[in-house]
This record gives sequence, C-alpha cells and structure tokens, in this order.
Amino acid sequence: MAEEAILGFLQNNDEIAHSGYFAAEHNLDHEEVKNVIKSLQAFRYIEAKVLKREFYGLTDEGKKYAAEGSPEFHFFSAVPEEGTISMDDLQRMLDPFVFDVGSKQAPKKKWVAMGQQVSRTVQHVEDKVKEMLLQIQQGLELDQESLKSLKYRKLIILTEKWSGYSEVKKGANYAPERRSLATDLTRENLQNWQELDFKEYNVNAKGQPVDSGHLHPLLKVRKQFKDIFCQMGFEEMPTNNFVESSFWNFDALFQPQQHPARDSHDTFFLKAPSTTRELPEDYVARVKQVHESGGFGSRGYNCEWKREEANKNLLRTHTTAVSSRMLYELAKGPFTPKKYFSIDRVFRNEAVDKTHLAEFHQIEGVVCDRGLTLGDLIGVLQEFFSRLGMSKLRFKPAYNPYTEPSMEIFSYHAGLEKWVEIGNSGMFRPEMLRPMGLPEDVRVIAWGLSLERPTMILYECDNIRELFGHKVDLKKVKENPLCRIGIESS
Ligand code: PHE
Repeated sequence: MAEEAILGFLQNNDEIAHSGYFAAEHNLDHEEVKNVIKSLQAFRYIEAKVLKREFYGLTDEGKKYAAEGSPEFHFFSAVPEEGTISMDDLQRMLDPFVFDVGSKQAPKKKWVAMGQQVSRTVQHVEDKVKEMLLQIQQGLELDQESLKSLKYRKLIILTEKWSGYSEVKKGANYAPERRSLATDLTRENLQNWQELDFKEYNVNAKGQPVDSGHLHPLLKVRKQFKDIFCQMGFEEMPTNNFVESSFWNFDALFQPQQHPARDSHDTFFLKAPSTTRELPEDYVARVKQVHESGGFGSRGYNCEWKREEANKNLLRTHTTAVSSRMLYELAKGPFTPKKYFSIDRVFRNEAVDKTHLAEFHQIEGVVCDRGLTLGDLIGVLQEFFSRLGMSKLRFKPAYNPYTEPSMEIFSYHAGLEKWVEIGNSGMFRPEMLRPMGLPEDVRVIAWGLSLERPTMILYECDNIRELFGHKVDLKKVKENPLCRIGIESS
C-alpha cells in the first residue's frame, strides 16, 4: 500500500516534502511509510533526508513567564527611563522571585548597569523569553540555540520525539514498481544477466557460525599433557584394551595375590570371559617363582602363587598394567632406553561421590635406562610438572607393591595456599623387572596421576559428575575455552 503510494506519487511529482503529512493525506500509517522509504532508499529507488523533531512543553515556571512576562523584563521595567534607582528600592517594589531572577538576568543581557544604584543602558527591550515560550505553546519550531537557553533555565521540557523523512525524491534506480531482484549466480541468471537486476552483495554481513565438533574438557587437558610428553621425547603406549588379565594388572607388577586391591570390592572382575586365554608361559613361571620364593636379591612373599588367580579377567585398575606389558616387550630385544607415556581410562569398584567415579583417566610416564637413580626420577618429575606450571614440588615416601622407593608428589597450590597431592611415583622393583628379562643395571622410573583432578581445577568444576557421565552439560562443552597450560613464565 505505502510502497505503491510513494512510487506512484513520485511518478507525477518532484518530491514528498514531509513523510508525516504524506501519510496523513494518503491515510497511511506513518510508521509503515517510514519503513517503506527506508527500504526503497536502500535499493536507490528513492532518495530521502532524515527529519527529526523534538516537541517541548512549558514547565510551571515557563507557563508563568509566558503569561506574565519574564522576571528580567519586569526588573528592567521597574528601572526609571532616566536617572537611577537604588537596589533597596527595587527590592521593595518587586516580588522577591522577580527581583532575584531579574537582578541576575537583566545585567547579563546588558539591559541595565548595576552597582548600589541601577540605571538603564538601553531605552527599550523586547521580552524575547516570553515570545519564545509563547511560540512553543503554539507548537512552533525554535532554533537550537533558543531551545538550549530555555532548557538551561528549566522553562521547557522535552515531551515527544518525532522522526520521519523530508525531500523524498526519485533515486538512481527509480521505477514506478519494484522489480524483484535476482539473488543467485545460477547458470540461467548469468545467461540472462542483461535483463535482470542483481541484488547487491553485502560484504559486511556476518556469516553463519560454523557448526563443528567440540572437545570435551578432559580431551582438551589430555591434549596438553600429550604435547608435554611429546616435547620431552616420550612415545605413547597402546592403551586400547580396557579388559586385562589379573596377571598383567597385578602379578607382573609383583602385587601379592592376597593384596586387598585384588578383592572384588576394589576391582571389577569379568563374568564372561572370566579368564584369559593365553599368557607367556615361560615368563609366568618366572613370575610365580619370584612371588613364591624370590630371587634377584629378594625373598619373595613365601606364599603359594595360584595360576587361577592370575587368569582372572578384570577391567584394568591402573595404566601401569600397560606399562608392564610394554616393558616385557622391550625386554625381548636387545636393550634400548625408552621413554613411554599413556593417558587412558581405568576402572575401580569404588563408592561414587563428588570427586570419585568408578572410572577415570590416568596419566602415566615411564623412563627406562641403565643406571637411573632416584635423582633422575626427581629431576624428570620436576621438569614434567614445571611444564604444567607447577615448579614447587615436595616428595613424601609412600608404598606401592611394584616400586621401591615410592614417593607421593605434592605441589604448592598458590590459589588454595597449601600443598596438594598431585601424583604417585617410584622406581620399579627388581622383582618386577628381572623376571621380564631386563638387564641387571636397567632401572625404570615411573609416575602416575589422574586426568580428572587437573581438569576440575582448570575448568573450575567441583562435582566430577558434571564433568563425566550423563549429567555433562553439552552447552558447556561447546562454550568451554581452550586449555592452555605450559611452562611457567617466570
Ligand atoms: N599405578 C599407580 C596408581 O594407580 C601410579 C604409579 C604409576 C605409581 C607408576 C608409581 C609408578 O596410583
């Protein structure tokens, strides 16, 4: 409606002087007229100027001045045409408010000269303020300067804002009817390009956000750990089997068969297949031997070692099971030093709470070389954890069936202002390494930590169930920032 009216009108007329009047005359809604003008202008069918108007009303003081004249005018009028009058006399003659305002405004306008005595400096003045206020009352427009002075004196206030267009004229692409625009560069459109009008490209338009996959926070942190290991020259171990035999998970690690961790309260055993099909028999014999009666300087556990116990399948309780397989493989060939790491899932039959789940991820590092010492272990840990931004470390003697000595690792947490446990470590025992066939002087240092703990700290999550499992908020996974941990800047 409005579009037809505007384009039609311009066919026979030079311009639409005022969009408001145009809307009223043609019985159109002014908002609609404005929208059409804006859109036609964007396609250069028409040109138009933006018109803005502000409407003012008089304040109570303004109304008083409009009716009775301004105080400065009354003040001026009270001064005799010739000669002088004292301030005291003026004050007595005039209303206190008129005297107060008038005595400030009249000299400011250079109408009077004022000391003890007051005299006129001009013979005749016009009450401009009153005139302006009357004009506003009649709805007339005033210049910006006048409006400013009246607003400053709080004689008028803004009551309404109005906007529209003036000087609406034909534009470069004017046509009495809007043509539909071709938007796509199809084969047909390109062949008929001379008959078509193409829509202009808006090169400033923002594109659709690209939908993509998102890494879970655990995977982001895992990537950082993986990078640090790789930068330190470590190779990743294959961790792609959650099901492991008790043999590799416990026995190969010199963990006694009566150890409480091998209880079904702590470990998930498999119902089917409940036992492993094969184990390297000659190695099994050496492991049995070292458990039962020792060797390599050890007395062993002096207990019967049962094969059935070693055959039991379970969900691996630590990634050290993977390390034991790898070291066994390494021992088969001529010895070469190695640095291995793994980051993968482990399972423990534990009560679930805010910080514990029955499955979590372990990060493990293993270094294998001739003549390594506890000093090497401490040095490697220092290097590894400084690269994570934790350089203040402390070690506490600990116990693992497969390491001697063993150390818990603590780091000073500046935010919590205390030492927090961050991992476990040690030197693998000869009872573990020698039956594998590793040379006597080969030492293996190793350490392990969870992936969940640093992730919860880095992503400020205090309930592990929000990090892992069905309660994970996918929106958070999408919005979580990148993970950046690295060598401390200091
Ligand atoms: N396997 C240990 C654990 O589950 C970690 C560890 C790995 C300790 C290597 C010493 C050496 O806590």
